[in-house]
Amino acid sequence: MSTLKIENLHVCIDNKEILKGIDLTINTGEIHALMGPNGNGKSTLLSAIMGNPKYQVTEGSIYLDGQNVLEMSVDERSKAGIFLGMQYPQEIPGVVTSDFLRAALNAHQEKPVSLFKFIKELDKNIADLKMDENLAHRYLNEGFSGGEKKRNEILQMKLLKPKFALLDEIDSGLDVDALKIVSEAINDMKSDSFGCVMVSHYERLFELVSPSHVHILVDGKIVLSGGQELIDRIDKEGYRWVKELGFDFETEENKQPIVLGSCGNKVKAK
Ligand SMILES: Nc1ncnc2c1ncn2[C@@H]1O[C@H](COP(=O)(O)OP(=O)(O)O)[C@@H](O)[C@H]1O
Ligand SMILES: [Mg+2]
Repeated sequence: MSTLKIENLHVCIDNKEILKGIDLTINTGEIHALMGPNGNGKSTLLSAIMGNPKYQVTEGSIYLDGQNVLEMSVDERSKAGIFLGMQYPQEIPGVVTSDFLRAALNAHQEKPVSLFKFIKELDKNIADLKMDENLAHRYLNEGFSGGEKKRNEILQMKLLKPKFALLDEIDSGLDVDALKIVSEAINDMKSDSFGCVMVSHYERLFELVSPSHVHILVDGKIVLSGGQELIDRIDKEGYRWVKELGFDFETEENKQPIVLGSCGNKVKAK
């Protein structure tokens, strides 16, 4: 069993504190759902775990089986078995998708994968995900639809076989059929050597991929953890009841124009 252990994580962006002390432990064999209103730090948490340099960790720790993740570069984190399926995958004109996937796979192995074996595995996964075969020959994500980009993230996950996958709104942009296909792909990965954190707003995804743990993140903190009952309540009532429990937070819709970041700087919210 592997463990990803996050303790008291504080993260700033441009001197504004977004994460204010996150504690979260994920073991392989577990699927964690991470929910919360927009703009409260879910993507920030996943990006900080992956090592996006925009996100400055000011306090706290992240360990993967005792290895200090915060001391690793992004590619070292990836090689150690962490994978991020992005909320907004980047378009990279000039880089052919299949070349990118092969380079990523080779970077994870001592010996490069044979072209024959790679193509076999790529074709199988493309077929499983019911993706258009031509996508692999096009530039990475360029002109892909929202759903195609998300499936391409899942394709990467299937090829790289991470220990821990962080999937950020992987269901956004997917129609009902695509959602089923992606859910099946995630369910296929489920094993004692795979753990996952899934950010989503929708009960439907969590019905298809039953999470073992559920967390609600508001105002940069995980304020509640539990099981399926939290998803059901959010689906029925939204997040108002979380406020009524005494946890104050803003939604993107009612952000104040000026906030005092606890990193000490007065910043203008966009
Ligand atoms: N790259 C960035 N630059 C400036 N502010 C950012 C950046 N990324 C996120 N933020 C801000 O951090 C807060 C949390 O954002 P995010 O983690 O994306 O929330 P969520 O994923 O929960 O919707 C928001 O106020 C957002 O505007
Ligand atoms: Mg987000």
